[in-house]
Amino acid sequence: MKTSPILIIGKNAKTGLRVEQRLQALGYNTRGVSRSTSPAFDWEDPTTWRPAMEGTESAYVTFYPDLAIPTAEQTIRDFVALAKEVGLRHVVLLSGRGEQGAERAETVLANSGLEWNVVRASWFMQNFSEGFMIEGILNGELMLPAGDIVEPFIDIDDIADVAVAALARPELRNRLFEVSGPRALTFAQCAAEISEAVGYPVKFTRISIEEFLQALREEGLPKEMLWLMNELFTVVFDGRNSKPTSGVEEALGRPATDFSEYLRKVMASGAWDRSGLLQTA
Ligand SMILES: NC(=O)c1ccc[n+]([C@@H]2O[C@H](COP(=O)([O-])OP(=O)(O)OC[C@H]3O[C@@H](n4cnc5c(N)ncnc54)[C@H](OP(=O)(O)O)[C@@H]3O)[C@@H](O)[C@H]2O)c1
Repeated sequence: MKTSPILIIGKNAKTGLRVEQRLQALGYNTRGVSRSTSPAFDWEDPTTWRPAMEGTESAYVTFYPDLAIPTAEQTIRDFVALAKEVGLRHVVLLSGRGEQGAERAETVLANSGLEWNVVRASWFMQNFSEGFMIEGILNGELMLPAGDIVEPFIDIDDIADVAVAALARPELRNRLFEVSGPRALTFAQCAAEISEAVGYPVKFTRISIEEFLQALREEGLPKEMLWLMNELFTVVFDGRNSKPTSGVEEALGRPATDFSEYLRKVMASGAWDRSGLLQTA
């Protein structure tokens, strides 16, 4: 009997990509969707949801831009209702630590009657190499509205491993995995470790939230993303998430990946290689 594909919402997203690659390597049939796929899936256009979801029974779901935004709870409520209608039975939801809005969305899923998992993650290490901080690293200066607060950044390869385990192993169903890396670091400490790995200086400069938001405004970031950045740096990043958690170990029976191993992988990938930039400068 042909098994139905596993739906991945966020095909090109940092974790979605990795979850799909792992599932395919294990021989699962997958259907990765986002706004640029066919069928498309757009969180802002619910008419796209049904065609993308029909014929699937389990899903890995990443919300965009973040479950912390005020409309996320209702969107997840609508999504879960449709999931039940189309015959989806199991949903694994990526969430963020310490975000009240995200916790409300998690509760909607956990009380839905669907089988569920929540992977509630700390800040991604890959924000430094695949996200909004890569430019700062390449320019040699990371300017952020953050001081002495520490964060146990997580390697998203670990998130993908946990999500795949949740999809593949029925005994893990109906559980929340709060996942983080093993070591809590300030952004300044991350910059110092990155400097050592890349071999060029990466300075950390603390700026005010107003300066940070103004710079993002000048880059043309839309209003809702400015709201989100403000929320993440002023509300969520207040020390509430500073303790490392054991979710990776609980799901996988092995420790979470350290920042040093993440650095080794990024160096091997060439993502922070500035030689091309310097030659054309
Ligand atoms: N970054 C972190 O540190 C962190 C920590 C904890 C949790 N999270 C969670 O991780 C999730 C993804 O975060 P991320 O910043 O890492 O994102 P990301 O990987 O940068 O994902 C962006 C992807 O989302 C797709 N997308 C954009 N708008 C969409 C829409 N309206 N509908 C459907 N797909 C859309 C885009 O693909 P297309 O252009 O093809 O649509 C794009 O490839 C969020 O739910 C966030 O809360 C992030």
